[in-house]
Amino acid sequence: MDHGIFFDEKEELFSIQMKTTTYIIGLANGYLGHIYYGSRINGLVGKESLRLNDYTFMNGEKKDKCTFMDSFPFEYGTAGIGDFRTAALSVRNEAGFSGVELKYISHNIYNGKKKLNGLPSTFGDEGDTTSLDILLSDTEGLIEVTLTYSIFKDSDILAKSVRVNNSSDQKLYIEKLMSSSVDMPYEGQEIITLHGSWARERAACRRDIGHGRIEISSKRGISSHQEHPFMAFAKPGTSENIGEVLGMCFVYSGNFLAEVERNQSDTLRANMGIGDYDFSWKLDPGETIDAPEVLLCYSTAGLGNMSREFHNVMRDHLIRSPYLHKKRPILINNWEATYFDFNEEKLLEIARQAKSCGIEMLVMDDGWFGKRDSDNCSLGDWVVDKRKLPDGLTGLCKKINDMGLDMGIWFEPEMISPDSDLYRAHPDWVIAIPGRENSECRSQFVLDLTRSEVREYVYECVAKVLRETNIKYVKWDMNRPLTDVGSTVTRGGEIHHRYMLGVYELMERLTSEFPDLLLENCSSGGGRFDAGMLYYSPQIWCSDDTDAMERLKIQEGTALIYPPSAIGAHVSICPNHLVGRTTDMTTRGYVALLGTFGYELDITKLSDEDKEIIKEQVADYHRFNDLIREGDYYRITSDGGLYTNYSVYHSYSWMFVSKDKKEALLTYVQERGTANMRPQQVKLVGLDPKKIYRLDDGRSFSGDELVHIGFVTDKLWGDGKGRLYHFVEE
Ligand code: GLA
Repeated sequence: MDHGIFFDEKEELFSIQMKTTTYIIGLANGYLGHIYYGSRINGLVGKESLRLNDYTFMNGEKKDKCTFMDSFPFEYGTAGIGDFRTAALSVRNEAGFSGVELKYISHNIYNGKKKLNGLPSTFGDEGDTTSLDILLSDTEGLIEVTLTYSIFKDSDILAKSVRVNNSSDQKLYIEKLMSSSVDMPYEGQEIITLHGSWARERAACRRDIGHGRIEISSKRGISSHQEHPFMAFAKPGTSENIGEVLGMCFVYSGNFLAEVERNQSDTLRANMGIGDYDFSWKLDPGETIDAPEVLLCYSTAGLGNMSREFHNVMRDHLIRSPYLHKKRPILINNWEATYFDFNEEKLLEIARQAKSCGIEMLVMDDGWFGKRDSDNCSLGDWVVDKRKLPDGLTGLCKKINDMGLDMGIWFEPEMISPDSDLYRAHPDWVIAIPGRENSECRSQFVLDLTRSEVREYVYECVAKVLRETNIKYVKWDMNRPLTDVGSTVTRGGEIHHRYMLGVYELMERLTSEFPDLLLENCSSGGGRFDAGMLYYSPQIWCSDDTDAMERLKIQEGTALIYPPSAIGAHVSICPNHLVGRTTDMTTRGYVALLGTFGYELDITKLSDEDKEIIKEQVADYHRFNDLIREGDYYRITSDGGLYTNYSVYHSYSWMFVSKDKKEALLTYVQERGTANMRPQQVKLVGLDPKKIYRLDDGRSFSGDELVHIGFVTDKLWGDGKGRLYHFVEE
């Protein structure tokens, strides 16, 4: 069968054929069941695996419906009618009763892909994308559910989303709304998730799946530093380049739920969707709600292949920025250089010295507005502080432009300080439970972006600055979770999701009015690094931890899903402000080269020697960024040892290989030195075994040798030492 989506009328089976994988669902007396997800099946498939003979209910006998309900592999299981496994959908009617039973009504297979209302999602045109809508309806007419599946040419990604419509004449309350549910046999899979904390984002964790339920979620109103909207199920023995793994990634930036339950019959149900915590969505008759998209990838060639499939779909079908395929300006950000203590003179001095080293943009971080000398005040008062910048933003921007640099700026649009003119004027504009004292976090509250007048205010603050100046880049920050989730206008249970819809509306407006703006998202570092945000911004600040050794792990975890070209990474000063470690300036550059690349330090205090290194790093960036941004990413060794088979010598190494396999860059970093060690021999991946590659030092190797026998790295002495090896086809 070709790539595409097919319906077998006789068997009532849908088969979704991707590049190397197949997803099959089928109908049984109108119930939609999951049959298969795995490597490509081209032959005929029947409904054997739905085990219909197990159920007398299938022969029309009503006396044991419950057995059917509780074990049929529902494609979209609902709560209340006998399926006791964790549900994909739970709906309460006006009288407070839960119960929905979905049966097939119709389907539609078409080229292209529809947009989701107010939500980020993958896109595709009629030439490269095929979609399937399956309409299901409640047997008592309460609701209609449309399950949408989309696939992309040359890709193993399956995009799933859900639309729910109240088809009744009463109010309904949606209490759980998953975007994807997959029932599958338990075959010893381990679950891989990403977890962390502020400055320790996205560390991978791999564990067994016992009976019961595992929940990965965020209740913080952001996708969060702590848990990540991602989970993968790896069959035993799956590692970087071999084995089967099913990965799921959520295109959403707010509360989420990712869960897997291993039930009494040893099958797994894996759900992903908007978090059901504090979620209760009222649907009036005729109203609909869209559930955000989940991207699924079944890889039969290990975790590395899964990562590359996610990277490709995000680069080809999710990130819309015109910067996506362009080299981003090398920027210098003044946050770690000055924190709040800066003025125009200081910024211009940084800019001047940066320019002389080849840096292309100055980004002015927090502290330029209101009376913001610390994080205690002024959020919401987006008026330039003339004490620091006497000639205003226009004056500063012009001076920076005159030096030949572009200018970028920091905003935290979603926030309000209790000590601000905005709060004094509009104390009700915050997320708070009326009548309760509101909890401060970093001395700030969250603006109630569920309200249109608040969104209007926020939008105009940012847009005014961009209209009046020649600022080319915005770092959009978000530095606290949502607590005390209440509002003077919006219903409880809906605030979290309506807040996210508000944020998305703002980003949509901003990127529409300023299509050439380079937007970088940020949330206390990487607290909102997710696929939802990538729809609006081609890059996201990865972590406030800029220590190169710590970044090895954080960036590796981030690149498990997201393309390195989206990972905000800078060289910062040593000793590092968070961990006190000193790492070679050169190695710091190698680590930051994996991502967007830039600087986060006071260049005016650097030695001449370090400034010379900056010039070399700038040259490396220009030389290698096309390859890094557009190429395929391979993890080679990892000290965590989670993905790769081994790293005997505490090393992290990774490669970028161009799509035509003519060029490759290996970065090798020795995190820690080991006594009496032989240089490590690393087997390279992704090269063409038939090609001959020449290393920059003139040595030549066959692809075969590099892939199968390996490449002997240099002997490195010390902690945090690294090398770049650049291979070009001879
Ligand atoms: C957050 C960001 C930092 C910096 C500060 C400014 O923590 O992650 O990069 O912008 O805010 O307050």
